[in-house]
Amino acid sequence: MQEKLEAIRREIEAGIGQANSRKELFELKMKYLGKTGEITALLKGMRDVPAEERPAMGKLVNDVRSWAEELFAAREEELKAKELSEKYASEKLDVTMPARFVGTGSVHPVTLVRRELIDIFAGMGFDVFEGPEIEKDYYNFQALNIPADHPARDMQDTFFITGEYLLRSQTSSGQIRVMENKKPPIKVLSPGRVYRSDSDATHSPMFHQMEGLVVDKGITLNDLKGLLDEFARRMFNSETKTRLRPSYFPFTEPSVEVDLSCSNCGGKGCRICKGTGWIEVLGAGMVNRRVLENCGVDPDVYTGFAFGMGLERIAMIKYGINDIRLMFEGDVRFLKQFKD
Ligand code: DAH
Repeated sequence: MQEKLEAIRREIEAGIGQANSRKELFELKMKYLGKTGEITALLKGMRDVPAEERPAMGKLVNDVRSWAEELFAAREEELKAKELSEKYASEKLDVTMPARFVGTGSVHPVTLVRRELIDIFAGMGFDVFEGPEIEKDYYNFQALNIPADHPARDMQDTFFITGEYLLRSQTSSGQIRVMENKKPPIKVLSPGRVYRSDSDATHSPMFHQMEGLVVDKGITLNDLKGLLDEFARRMFNSETKTRLRPSYFPFTEPSVEVDLSCSNCGGKGCRICKGTGWIEVLGAGMVNRRVLENCGVDPDVYTGFAFGMGLERIAMIKYGINDIRLMFEGDVRFLKQFKD
């Protein structure tokens, strides 16, 4: 027995220095101290030792077991420290190295225009209302004085979802939703996406509009003109003028088309304004009495004006973009030209 213990002692002493990882060390430890390990087997064998020798023998085996356990624990600590320092060495970060370039995003021109418009009109006391893109025929057409068979429906090639629901073709639907829920005075902007079955260099099946609505006692076309003048000066430059031309929209009476003097050539005529000195930017007019009535607003007490513009169109004019499709292709070379 004593010899056997001595042999185990030597084996462990020799083996422990060669265990160079915690895994190897564990395997070695199991060989002696595991459930079926050699020292464990000796302890189990105690019951076969004559009773009078048992205490002395037991002490010998137990001493070797304690000695081995301490040795394994110490080596375990050593290896742990070694593995940790190797890990630190291999994961070392050189914080003085130059940083890798991370491309930063830029703000989309339509978002820039949207933010700027909201800023301008919010400064004049407008609230913002955003209506749904999947809209009822009633809000997109009927309540705006465009009944089912009205020829004005052909002005916009609409995507219908069902007989009753459609993808809104204009943010004018927001006018109705606002007036249904709020009594005048009303001063609201309604920006958002609109959809039409139309696609070429100046039309996209999805684009953005911004609607404006003002309703109160005594509102006149003159107020509209004054507001648009201020908008034009702030959006483009202080020299920009507006021009109203008679037009037709079912939801306004009278209706106007609004041109801005070309900010590129100052009105002399250039490529952007096609030599005319003016650029058409929006539709507007005095809210039709029928529309007010549809929303429960008394047209003999209140009057109002409305306007609607395309954000891509404003962006094209402001940034000299000649093809609307550039704004939806996601080409980074185009997009990164626009900074906040
Ligand atoms: N909704 C019209 C369109 O999409 C634009 C418009 C014209 C809006 C006149 C208005 C308006 O509010 O008064 O073509």
